Amino acid sequence: MTRKLTRMLLTLAACAWAGAVAMRAGGATDNDVPSAPPPGRLSETGLYADRDALIIDQRNRPFTPQYPLWSDGAAKRRWVRLPDGATIDARDVNRWDFPVGTTFWKEFAFGGRKVETRMFRKVARDRWDFASYAWQDDQRDATLVPRDGLARVAEVAPGKWHNIPSHDECRACHDAGRTEVLGFSALQLSDDRDPLAPHAEPLEPGMVTLASLVAERRIAGLASRLITTPPRVAGRTPVERAVLGYLSTNCGSCHNRESSIASLGLFLKYAIASPRTCTADALATTIGHTGHWAVPDAPDGTSRVVAPGAPARSALLRRAQSRRPSSQMPPIGTVLADRDALRLVTEWIDALEGPPAAPCAVSAPATTAAARRPATSRTGR
Ligand code: HEC
Ligand code: HEC
Repeated sequence: MTRKLTRMLLTLAACAWAGAVAMRAGGATDNDVPSAPPPGRLSETGLYADRDALIIDQRNRPFTPQYPLWSDGAAKRRWVRLPDGATIDARDVNRWDFPVGTTFWKEFAFGGRKVETRMFRKVARDRWDFASYAWQDDQRDATLVPRDGLARVAEVAPGKWHNIPSHDECRACHDAGRTEVLGFSALQLSDDRDPLAPHAEPLEPGMVTLASLVAERRIAGLASRLITTPPRVAGRTPVERAVLGYLSTNCGSCHNRESSIASLGLFLKYAIASPRTCTADALATTIGHTGHWAVPDAPDGTSRVVAPGAPARSALLRRAQSRRPSSQMPPIGTVLADRDALRLVTEWIDALEGPPAAPCAVSAPATTAAARRPATSRTGR
């Protein structure tokens, strides 16, 4: 990784860390759950009702986001546990507020073998604890991974290894926006699923969706228009819809208005807007824009973040295709490029004729507390 990139990522993580420390210093709220360190074994976290047969506790409900994160082709299963009787506060449609005690798990398997299960739990009004468990060879249980992560846990292609991220890396993605939860939101759970979304898993019976949350009264304050018309990405074509959704999950966790890299002016997170506001940040901040990173083999001055009709001169695509540590995007969490999705992005760029017809006004990046904080130099890792 380049020194600059490493520094920016550490800044992302350091801001998140500083936020968590400030929260702890701010004192506990009445409904804090005891913040014991995460248990040493996955079987002790409450995921399973039967710890020997590995049968999932029925209170942990499966779900699948319509735009999943690419993790080198891992097969994933996800569960959520909402505390009994508690509801999600959905008044801010892009930032659901979860009851303290909410727990999420996400299991990764390669070639039919479970490799890793990630977990986070809301332990105070503004704090989530992260943990990750590495599966034993006998596949009977998984053990807690140290905060620094674990390298080389599964070979995903000859000589290419899946690594379990460190907690700083978890937070670089999960703490860089206004919400830690990335795959359980109005857009991700919408019943109006995108048929072109790359690698989307089918909805199975019993999975939580936006409609089921409403029907089971597990959500409060959701705008009624989203109940009658489930949210969908407003692309001008079906391909654009899928591309914007893909970029939102895979890139928008860091490239958003609240993150400490907001000053790049590249906003790929898709926000569900009120009917009157502009929604197309990812169009307005990429098409025809000159970024700081120039495509190395593009003739001078012709590199763009997205160059309409010219995928080869489009930095967004070239960095997503790259797996050189200094240029790859995302910079962490993957060692193989996502060929299926990149075919779709290429098709989208090829078909673009120019900037969006009615470009959205891009306001100056939000100066959040995180963005204002000086780049803390953290050592230790
Ligand atoms: C490269 C960015 C990235 C990194 C690094 C990362 N995650 Fe995630 N994670 C995501 C995204 C995006 C989703 C939602 C999409 C999906 O599940 O496919 C997600 C989903 C999850 C979920 C399900 C709840 C949710 O937010 O949807 C859990 C639990 C989770 N991650 C835990 C972790 C833990 C623990 C770590 C570190 C060991 C980690 N993640 C590292 C991006 C990341
Ligand atoms: C874990 C956080 C993270 C994720 C996820 C991420 N990026 Fe980045 N990105 C960065 C950082 C930090 C920089 C600035 C340093 C650099 O340019 O290497 C950056 C820079 C960029 C730039 C250069 C912007 C410019 O002004 O030239 C592009 C283009 C880009 N990213 C595209 C993407 C795409 C496309 C994805 C998803 C496929 C993505 N990024 C996912 C952290 C991230």
